[in-house]
Amino acid sequence: MKKTIAVLAGDGIGPEVMVEGIRVLDSVAQKFGHDFEYDYALVGGAAFEVFGEHCPISTIETCANADAILFGSVGGPVNAQDDQKWKSCEANSILALRKEFKFNINIRPIAMIPSLMDISPLKAKVVQPKADIVIFRELNGDIYFGAHEQGVDDNGVRYATDVAEYNEHQIASIVHQAFKATQNRGKHLTSVDKANVLATSKLWRTIVDEIAPQYSDVKVSHMYVDNCAMQMIVNPSQFDVIVTANLFGDILSDLGAVLPGSLGLIPSVSLNAEGFGLYEPSGGSAPDIAGQGKANPIAQILSAAMMLEYSFNMLEEANAIYQAVNRALTSGKRTIDIVGSDAVAVSLSQMADAIIAEIMEASLV
Ligand code: IPM
Ligand code: MG
Repeated sequence: MKKTIAVLAGDGIGPEVMVEGIRVLDSVAQKFGHDFEYDYALVGGAAFEVFGEHCPISTIETCANADAILFGSVGGPVNAQDDQKWKSCEANSILALRKEFKFNINIRPIAMIPSLMDISPLKAKVVQPKADIVIFRELNGDIYFGAHEQGVDDNGVRYATDVAEYNEHQIASIVHQAFKATQNRGKHLTSVDKANVLATSKLWRTIVDEIAPQYSDVKVSHMYVDNCAMQMIVNPSQFDVIVTANLFGDILSDLGAVLPGSLGLIPSVSLNAEGFGLYEPSGGSAPDIAGQGKANPIAQILSAAMMLEYSFNMLEEANAIYQAVNRALTSGKRTIDIVGSDAVAVSLSQMADAIIAEIMEASLV
């Protein structure tokens, strides 16, 4: 099958993990007889250097003409925000793409990886039985996309405001998707909000309750976000699917990385109503370790696998990657973020080599 993939590697570790993601896709193409065409485009600080903007129209066109977008990461060091190249870089690039293509559904699977149990900061009795959570994060509304303002009032006092807003359609759209996914999993949906304080959360909870009867096979729980953050650590296996607003989903998905032990293991997909998707690691550009061959390529590789699954319906191919990653980890190959105390870390390309070897060696079913 021929597919065109827009490849936006971005900044920091983005370009180096992307190289490994593409190598894995090439091995899948070779093994399964597909033809993946890669259309490269600049985004983030990398685009700013060439075009003077973070997400030029040519990049948007490349994305619009592709079957899916494979994204790396954007942004620079936290202390470099005065530099034009990095100022508002994330807002102008990844947030702009989410808005442009109306990617309102963000899916982040977070599971314990049995072979990495030893590096989990959580005790074995907590992470067992195996925790396996999928976070459905609303991605087009909330405090991310309301008005942001900074100013100085008449008394010379500096102030800032960020407006959080949702309408019922935005909430219903993600909630339906989460219910459908829950029906195919453990049939337990936890809706996370702050309805004891926020108006957006009160509306969120109302909409969830209105929709719930359409999915009577799914058990629904409501949980406040502060409690959820604690529950994900003390009893993560109580969760199946979590559905939540944009900001809460951002925070909880980083927190969830504590289960497998590293943000470098968490992929994500962002979908719009037409099913068009952008696939990216859940973590950031990690400029502190960029260019040193130390980054973990697995989140990018798993994002590529999710692209095969969600956008191309290549389920066997996606599974080949998921299983290869598990086997490579079980064989003891680990990048520095997941290495145990007495083990030696491999480089990102050695990690990808191990995964590719597992893909090529596996027998086709
Ligand atoms: C994420 C990231 C982004 C977000 C940043 C880079 C704007 O943290 O995808 O989780 O906050 O959504
Ligand atoms: Mg985040």
